[in-house]
Amino acid sequence: MLRSHTCGELRPGDVGNSVTLSGWVQKSRDLGGMTFIDLRDRYGITQLVFNMDVNASLCEKARKLGREFVISVSGNIVERSNKNTDLPTGDIELIVEQLTVLNKSNTPPFTIEDETDGGDDLRMKYRYMDLRRAPLKSNIELRHRVLQETRKYLDSEGFLEIETPVLIKSTPEGARDFVVPSRMNPNQFYALPQSPQTFKQLLMVSGFDKYFQIVRCFRDEDLRADRQPEFTQIDCEMSFVEREDVLSTFEGLIKHIIKTVQGHDLPEFPIMTYADAVASYGTDKPDTRFEMKFVELNASTQGQGFNVFDGAEIVVGICAKGAAEYSRKQLDALTDFVKRPQIGAKGLVYLKYNQDGTTKSSVDKFYGDDARMAICKAMNAEPGDLVLIMSGDKAQARNAMSALRLEVGEALGLRDKSIYAPLWVVDFPLLEWDEETKRFHAMHHPFTSPNPGDADKLQSDPGAVKANAYDMVINGVELGGGSIRIHQRKMQEQMFDALGFTKEEAEAQFGFLLGAFEYGAPPHGGIAFGFDRLVALIGGSETIRDYIAFPKNNSGRDVMLDAPSEISTEQLKELGINLP
Ligand code: AMO
Repeated sequence: MLRSHTCGELRPGDVGNSVTLSGWVQKSRDLGGMTFIDLRDRYGITQLVFNMDVNASLCEKARKLGREFVISVSGNIVERSNKNTDLPTGDIELIVEQLTVLNKSNTPPFTIEDETDGGDDLRMKYRYMDLRRAPLKSNIELRHRVLQETRKYLDSEGFLEIETPVLIKSTPEGARDFVVPSRMNPNQFYALPQSPQTFKQLLMVSGFDKYFQIVRCFRDEDLRADRQPEFTQIDCEMSFVEREDVLSTFEGLIKHIIKTVQGHDLPEFPIMTYADAVASYGTDKPDTRFEMKFVELNASTQGQGFNVFDGAEIVVGICAKGAAEYSRKQLDALTDFVKRPQIGAKGLVYLKYNQDGTTKSSVDKFYGDDARMAICKAMNAEPGDLVLIMSGDKAQARNAMSALRLEVGEALGLRDKSIYAPLWVVDFPLLEWDEETKRFHAMHHPFTSPNPGDADKLQSDPGAVKANAYDMVINGVELGGGSIRIHQRKMQEQMFDALGFTKEEAEAQFGFLLGAFEYGAPPHGGIAFGFDRLVALIGGSETIRDYIAFPKNNSGRDVMLDAPSEISTEQLKELGINLP
């Protein structure tokens, strides 16, 4: 054995024992006749001591070790005179008697410390070294824990883990497909799954009843902190269920994970309709850790000569508790924030309800004392509060206000990472009208069934149909989404028709599923969670990249492998692809 213990486990109880440790040289310090080395492995750091007076040649050898050399050392554990309370092993040290260099290392391009000096690209290029740093290492460990607890729970609930293929035909989940050319079928392409949606439904037709898979999905879409081109889902499906069965099963999954991984008991998840979420928070994924709900102010702001509000479809306000003291500079910063191109608001109106009972706004010219007080009243504001108001068309103003709400919530410390505020959002519209293509799109996907009772409107008034779909949202993150599915051919055909597919197109793309619905398809429904998002949420971050061992960068590249890359002319020829 190259080690008897790990670098994280030795304690005062081990004093006097002879041990062997292996690991990486984190840091080396020469002090007079002594050399100290911090030896690191996955489990922690142990201090090694080399004494010139006791063994000069060994100490010389130690002095030649560079950072990240891989070594094995043996010797005795002693109690440290100078204890390090920051380290779990800080009460002891190892007096080295034998040192073997297992492998040398070039000087690493960035420091392997909790706070490193390496830029993003450099760290991505040498990801294997970045993963040695404690923060990333613990993220990967957390991911492992969440994986194990997911499997444990779903197995205990009777779910079968079944793998589905990766080389498939396009499944519409709203993004572009990544495609793979087929050598044996020139000019034809597989698509990589955006999700295993149709397969899991077919598994229900097969009678498997409860399926899950922790599965890689591929979507060619613009990247953000919470999106990667390949990401992992906890994908699930159940037969003979209604919405409430699915919600309670998967609320159970998330409660189990948070309880076992973090020791938190989550409360029952409230259910909110899509319409309420949009009206109160301007988004279908509200961060409900704090209130600051939207109040529509059309009635209290009209007819005072302020054209911006008078002509607007919606005037909407939020009340920032205790923020009336905000300085000019802070208010200007908020205005600049909403005017950024990503948000695109034209401006922001503020109204301070001062502690002394007076009011002051950025539109005093139009709104006198009484009018300002009327707005404060409508907002339920109290002395010391700051009211922020925006207007415009509904979608745009709500969107901008939603971003502002999060910004102000953050500034006021209301987005506490140690708090979980979960909820289910339900009753989404089934279809969304797309002005550009002049047709309806499925808001979730085309296999989602209408709410019971809404089905007959699918042909007469498709835009009014609500979906039997649900999203799980925690702290403003859309963690997962699913639906009760269509399981009858006729209804699925009506859905494709509403989406503008001809009969032939529907048959060509989804004939296999329509056919399966004619051979005893049970009622079924399911959900898929963004696994990377779940782990990041538990880890207290919004950046899923930090929880994936080998992620892509913001341009979708693997900078370590340098992928995507060109392929050889021979390979292209074999695939029958002629590049210009
Ligand atoms: P949906 O498209 O909502 O549903 O995806 C489910 C969940 O997957 C996560 N997610 C992502 N995570 C990281 N990077 C991405 N690019 C990305 N895209 C999605 C989100 C999302 O909530 N087949 C359906 C599920 C079903 O109906 O059962 C589906 O894929 O957390």
